Amino acid sequence: ETHFTKKKRFVGKQVLITAGPTYEKIDPVRFIGNHSSGKMGLALAHAMANEGAHVELIAGPGNYQITSSAITLTSVSSADEMYQAVSDAYDQTDIAIFAAAVADYKPAAPAEEKIKKTGESMTIELIKNKDIAAEMGKRKLAHQINVGFALETEKEELYAQEKLAKKNFDLIVLNSLNDNGAGFSVDTNKITIFSVDQKPKYFELKSKQEVANDILNCVHEKILS
Ligand code: CTP
Ligand code: CA
Repeated sequence: ETHFTKKKRFVGKQVLITAGPTYEKIDPVRFIGNHSSGKMGLALAHAMANEGAHVELIAGPGNYQITSSAITLTSVSSADEMYQAVSDAYDQTDIAIFAAAVADYKPAAPAEEKIKKTGESMTIELIKNKDIAAEMGKRKLAHQINVGFALETEKEELYAQEKLAKKNFDLIVLNSLNDNGAGFSVDTNKITIFSVDQKPKYFELKSKQEVANDILNCVHEKILS
């Protein structure tokens, strides 16, 4: 039997990864959520763990099959809970990857009791959630690397570059919607990676595991630069 050992590039690194959706409570039985599967974050967590990193995976509701003892899962539900967990862990982090699909808004005043069906229409007032990645971007020190994600339906390169700057990311991964099989609930992604100081890197449609490896290559380049 031949055994190949891959070079481990992230030995001793503390990595924080957000993944999955967030659920924003409307009343005791209802929430606002989204279709994020958390698969990209989970693939990144395993890729990092396989290369020697210690990974803190902070994930919204979903099924996460973790097969590495180097991954610690912190399960959260709302954006507020995710913010708190990330904030607690961030200062010990060398590499933070924000792969979660965080709800932008939450109900202003979740109801204590189940909301009864009454009128012909109803309105729920929403207020903005904290931007987890942007807040950690403000706290980022020179040795830390922050990686963001973006999914756009128009002006994708422009908007991705704007987010890179605005949130103080070192890298941003643009998920392309222009190919069948990219995005939520599938096992493949087509990405472009933007960096503050380099030309964009374009990648083919690949499995999320292979995409995770491409992202790790770019993170490793950043560490070396
Ligand atoms: N993000 C976050 N906290 C939020 C919103 C977004 O950490 N409250 C992170 C995401 O995990 C992602 C990046 O910010 O890494 C970009 O998310 P995106 O939804 O594309 O950006 P927004 O700033 O929310 O802009 P918009 O949804 O209006 O395009
Ligand atoms: Ca958003």
